[in-house]
Amino acid sequence: MFCFIPLSSVHKQHIAVASLPQTGSVTMKLDITSRAADLRYAIRDIVVAAKKYEKEKRKTPLYLNIGDPLKYDWSTPDFMIEALHEASGKGRNGYAPSEGEDDLRHAAAEKEKRVNGIDIDPERVIVTAGVSEAIQFLTGSLISEGSEFLVPGPAYPPYISYIGYFGGNPITYRTIEEEGWIPDVDNLRGKINEKTKGILVINPNNPTGAVYDRKTLKQIADIAGEYELPLISDEIYDQLTFDVKQTPMASVVSDVPMVGFNGISKVYLAPGWRIGYVYFQDDGSELEPLRDAMVRQARIRICTNTPTQLAAAVALRSDGSHIEGMLERLRARRQVIWERLNNIEGISASLPQAAFYIMAKVDLNGIWKDDYEFVLDLLHETGVVFVPGSGFCADYGRDHFRSVFLPPVDMITEAMDRLENFMHKKQS
Ligand SMILES: Cc1ncc(COP(=O)(O)O)c(C=O)c1O
Repeated sequence: MFCFIPLSSVHKQHIAVASLPQTGSVTMKLDITSRAADLRYAIRDIVVAAKKYEKEKRKTPLYLNIGDPLKYDWSTPDFMIEALHEASGKGRNGYAPSEGEDDLRHAAAEKEKRVNGIDIDPERVIVTAGVSEAIQFLTGSLISEGSEFLVPGPAYPPYISYIGYFGGNPITYRTIEEEGWIPDVDNLRGKINEKTKGILVINPNNPTGAVYDRKTLKQIADIAGEYELPLISDEIYDQLTFDVKQTPMASVVSDVPMVGFNGISKVYLAPGWRIGYVYFQDDGSELEPLRDAMVRQARIRICTNTPTQLAAAVALRSDGSHIEGMLERLRARRQVIWERLNNIEGISASLPQAAFYIMAKVDLNGIWKDDYEFVLDLLHETGVVFVPGSGFCADYGRDHFRSVFLPPVDMITEAMDRLENFMHKKQS
C-alpha cells in the first residue's frame, strides 16, 4: 500500500530530531518506589564500602562477609561439573517447566528421604532460582500492606527485606544468645496477632550457626498449629552440622502443615548455579493455595536455568561423600576463629554448631555509636570486612558482627591479628 507522507511533516520531524538535547541532558520524571529505593542487604551493602577502601587505599580488603565458599579455597565437586557439561552438551538448553525439571523434583524428594528421613511428594516440589527466589515467591504470596511475619532475630536478611518490600512488617522473635541462639518460644508466641501471616524458622541458622533442638521445634510447630499459621523452615545448611545433627522440621510436625526450603548453594558448593527447592508438607490440600500462588509467580519468570537443574539432580542423588571432608576443614577453621575472637578484649562469641558463620558480640564501649560504625571503622583502618549485626536484626543483632569462617586458616589468622591490634589500639 502506498503511503503518502507530506513533505512538510518530514521536514518537521527532521527539525524535531535535530533539536533533541544531547543524551544525558534530558531530564525525566523517575518516581522510584520507596520499597525499591529503601531495600537493604547488609551482606552485600558492605562491599560498596570495601570497594571504596580498595580504590582509595589501593589495598585488597580481607573479605569475611559473604557465605560463598567458592570465594575462598573451595570448589564445586568434579562430578557435578561433569554433570553440568553433560546436561548442556546433550542439548538440554531449552526452557524447563516452571515448577522445575521432573528429574530434579524427584531427586530432591529422594535426597530428603535419604538424608532427612522425610517423605515429600515430588509433584509438590517447586524448583526455584536458589532459596532466594523461594523467599520472594513466599512473601509475594502471603504479604500485603500491613501484614506481619515472624522471623528469627537475627535472621538471614532477605526475609526481612522482602517482607518490607511487599508492604509488610517483619517481626523478629528473640533468639537467646546465652543458650546458643535458641528461639525464645514465649517471645515468639507473644508477638502473634491477627495481622500475623506466618512463622519462619531458619535451622541451622544464618547468621548464628545455631541448631535448634527437637523440643523447641515442636513448641514452635504447636504454636503454628494453634494459631493456624503457615510454618516455613529454611534448612539450606541441613548437612553442615558439627556436633549435633539437625532435626528437620518435617520430622517433628505431625498434623501441622509446613513448607520446607532447601538448595544446593551451600552443602553442594554451587551457589552460582542458582538452584533451590520448596516442598509442601500437609494432608495434600491445606497448603495448596500457597503452592498455587508460588507456582503462578514461577510461571511468569518461565523457569530456572535448565542445565544446572539437571546437574543439581545428580548432586542430590550422590552419596554426599564430599561433605565429611568439608566438615573437617570447616571444623578446624571454626575452632581458630572462635578461640581468637574470644581472646580479644571486648569481643565474645558462642561456638557455632553449623554452617560457616560466627556471630560475635562487641563491646562498643562508647567508642563507636553502633555496630555499623564499628564495622566501617575496622574496615577503614584494617581492611577486614565483616557484616554489621544490625543488618540481620535491628533488635537482636545489634552490637554484633558476623564473620564467615570459610577462608583458609592463614587468612582467618591475619584477619584476627588485625582485629586484635585494632581493638587494642582503640581501647588504650
Ligand atoms: C538461611 C539462608 N537461606 C537462603 C539463602 C540463599 O541461598 P540461595 O543461594 O539458595 O539463594 C542463604 C544464603 O546465604 C541463607 O543463609
